[in-house]
Amino acid sequence: MYTKSMGNSLIFIVFFIIVSITPSYGYDPLDPFGNITITWDFLSDNEDTIDVKVSIHNFQLFRHVEEPGWKLGWTWRGHEVILAMFGAEAMEQGNCTLFRGQDKPHCCKKEPVIIDLMPGAPYNMQSANCCKGGVLTSLTQDVTKHVASFQMNYMKSSTSISGSNFSMPENFTLGLPGYSCAKPFEVPPTKFTKNGHRWLQVLETWNVTCTYSPFLTSYTPKCCVSFSAFYHSDIVPCPLCSCNCQGQPRADCIDSYKTSVLKLPQANDAEPVVRCSHHMCPIRVHWHVKQSYREYWRVKITITNLNIIKNYSQWNLVVLHPNLRNLTQVFSFNYQPLPTYGNFNDTGIFWGLKYYNDLLLAHGEDGNVQTELLLNKDQGEFTFKEGWTFPRKISFNGDECVMPSPDHYPRLPNSSHIATKSHLLCLFLMLLLTILFL
Ligand SMILES: *[C@@H]1O[C@H](CO)[C@@H](O)[C@H](O)[C@H]1NC(C)=O
Ligand SMILES: *[C@@H]1O[C@H](CO)[C@@H](O)[C@H](O)[C@H]1NC(C)=O
Ligand SMILES: *[C@@H]1O[C@H](CO)[C@@H](O)[C@H](O)[C@H]1NC(C)=O
Ligand SMILES: *[C@@H]1O[C@H](CO)[C@@H](O)[C@H](O)[C@H]1NC(C)=O
Ligand SMILES: *[C@@H]1O[C@H](CO)[C@@H](O)[C@H](O)[C@H]1NC(C)=O
Ligand SMILES: *[C@@H]1O[C@H](CO)[C@@H](O)[C@H](O)[C@H]1NC(C)=O
Ligand SMILES: *[C@@H]1O[C@H](CO)[C@@H](O)[C@H](O)[C@H]1NC(C)=O
Ligand SMILES: *[C@@H]1O[C@H](CO)[C@@H](O)[C@H](O)[C@H]1NC(C)=O
Ligand SMILES: *[C@@H]1O[C@H](CO)[C@@H](O)[C@H](O)[C@H]1NC(C)=O
Repeated sequence: MYTKSMGNSLIFIVFFIIVSITPSYGYDPLDPFGNITITWDFLSDNEDTIDVKVSIHNFQLFRHVEEPGWKLGWTWRGHEVILAMFGAEAMEQGNCTLFRGQDKPHCCKKEPVIIDLMPGAPYNMQSANCCKGGVLTSLTQDVTKHVASFQMNYMKSSTSISGSNFSMPENFTLGLPGYSCAKPFEVPPTKFTKNGHRWLQVLETWNVTCTYSPFLTSYTPKCCVSFSAFYHSDIVPCPLCSCNCQGQPRADCIDSYKTSVLKLPQANDAEPVVRCSHHMCPIRVHWHVKQSYREYWRVKITITNLNIIKNYSQWNLVVLHPNLRNLTQVFSFNYQPLPTYGNFNDTGIFWGLKYYNDLLLAHGEDGNVQTELLLNKDQGEFTFKEGWTFPRKISFNGDECVMPSPDHYPRLPNSSHIATKSHLLCLFLMLLLTILFL
């Protein structure tokens, strides 16, 4: 028995090494083409000034931009000055002392930083597709809210030098941790239509591609996974210190609800305050193998928010499990398979139902959401052995969660024991039948 379990662990360890060595070229292998594209459309050239429309498209399958939202920055090549802006605003006006008397320009900074307006901003400050408070949803969850746009009118600068008729600024930033933006490049001009028949086009269009890499942030895990199974009474908890250790610097936590009457920091504070635990993660995902039927098996997933005050809106969970290709039913979550390398159909994204559980409330408000999955046992592969029923990878809002180590997975009870039991049951039933027939 001892050697057998050793063997099982070995298989596991080998499997996990293979999973973790899968190639990743600095981007997320589950979303290899994911990016945020900034599009800069030159709308009109008015001799002294230029009108542009700037759009930010979130082309990522599951990573979204949450509050406090994007802060778009760039560097002008010369002394351009933003005279007016609609649908967004510059954080600082800068030094506009050269413009005495007349209307003060909107922003005179060489490196302006633009933020979105809040929903419900005054009508005369709006523009099409604006005013989402800097929030962008992922491509999967809500295609209507993955773009933000604003328009501006700015004064040309004679000192700008560039190869094209327009001087495109450089060094774009999104103000979001982990994102870096490449150089702007010219693309075919954006076309648009006003009546559906005739297509107009802007004067010139430039794109800037920004990509996310966890290695660009001071990366610490933000969630962990625990397991349990109907055939085992123990819960396999999140690994110790998954996200931080209690008592470490920057490991503020609150012990119980009693202290929640104390003064709490603002929700937007960079460091979230979490409930004290041995793993110190703000999010815990629990995977429970709930039931086994003849052809199906059932899993219950519970996501618990351990932040004292932070709510997660538009949360999502990406799961990798080989049996997801035979997913039969999902209760109370949305589900969509994700295209992966090799098209294994073993990865999918779950997110909340609108107005029902798309908001994962803070811990203080009893924050958890749950679902059950019904999966068709793929006869060639399905087994309760070797932790096959547990996920290979889970990420919450794009951040990979820390999993228990494979040798801690819930073990099957002594299988020979079960076999004898069911054999006895069979024998008993047969006896019963024979007695009835006699
Ligand atoms: C950015 O994402 C879009 C949409 O998925 C894709 O078409 C484009 O090729 C991506 N750009 C880069 C540079 O990866
Ligand atoms: C953009 O950044 C690069 C590298 O830091 C710098 O050399 C360049 O001058 C910057 N561009 C502008 C317009 O300031
Ligand atoms: C603002 O700009 C003007 C003209 O460029 C300059 O004389 C002045 O010192 C600047 N003021 C500050 C506070 O930088
Ligand atoms: C500038 O605009 C003129 C027409 O207005 C065009 O012929 C020329 O190719 C443009 N130059 C560049 C570099 O785009
Ligand atoms: C430029 O960005 C737009 C999104 O506004 C996208 O549709 C287009 O494919 C991009 N072009 C290139 C060449 O990446
Ligand atoms: C979280 O959501 C609840 C319920 O909608 C709300 O009462 C609370 O103010 C929200 N908390 C924050 C920090 O936004
Ligand atoms: C994945 O699903 C697609 C569409 O249902 C199917 O065409 C493809 O063969 C599947 N791939 C595998 C490896 O099962
Ligand atoms: C599970 O999915 C795979 C791939 O799509 C398919 O070949 C297999 O027949 C399915 N099994 C069941 C039991 O539906
Ligand atoms: C498994 O069951 C067999 C037969 O009942 C017994 O001999 C053996 O000791 C059990 N092994 C363990 C690890 O419980």
